[in-house]
Amino acid sequence: MTNPQSELERLQAEAAQRAMIDRELVARFAPEDAELRGANDRAKAAGMPEIQISPLQGKLLQVLAAACGARKILEIGALAGYSGAWLARALPADGKLITLEVSEKHAEVARATFAAAGVADRVEVRVGPALETLPPLTSEAPFDLIFIDADKGNYPAYLDWAVKLSRPGTIIVADNVIRGGRAFQTPPPDENAAGAAAYNEKLLANPRLISVAFPMDDDGTDGFAISVVR
Ligand code: DHB
Ligand code: MG
Repeated sequence: MTNPQSELERLQAEAAQRAMIDRELVARFAPEDAELRGANDRAKAAGMPEIQISPLQGKLLQVLAAACGARKILEIGALAGYSGAWLARALPADGKLITLEVSEKHAEVARATFAAAGVADRVEVRVGPALETLPPLTSEAPFDLIFIDADKGNYPAYLDWAVKLSRPGTIIVADNVIRGGRAFQTPPPDENAAGAAAYNEKLLANPRLISVAFPMDDDGTDGFAISVVR
């Protein structure tokens, strides 16, 4: 029989090791400057939920933007502008990030973040429900990279729009497709998990997309799905 005390110590040691590895990776590969840290402080001060992506996820978005030579990026869900700042910094000077945000209050915080991060000239925040702000983007498509991080229930609809607004080679990234494993339960136990599950199912059924997902948030229980349009 396992000794509960030594089992607890083993789990604590594993958690400490994971935290150390994450800290060291962030320090080396994805250090935040004061402006990025400021985005999170601004979100907190505005009483917004602290659900932004991790620094390593921000850096991965930049690597993906470089991989597809992104000049035009679309984000669905700006929140406080943290992920948008990472994305916009990966753009060339004449590049453009359009980020969609349902809340005027959140959009104001995001604009302040973009100004502080020195990318306001490259970013446009459009306010309204994304299902209303997406259709007019048809005339501005295709986008090179599309990042989905908004209300999970609409993720399947957002995927349809992302594909519509894409070109072969466009990279589509979605946050929160794992939900601590709840996206893999049948039936998914909550609305967010159900949205994530439907999103995963839909992208895996689309022969135009080659996709992968993996845990990559601060505690390894949620993460990105990454798809490339063929
Ligand atoms: C939630 C939303 C997110 O985009 C996220 O990264 C984490 C949590 C949420 O709505 O609970
Ligand atoms: Mg998210």
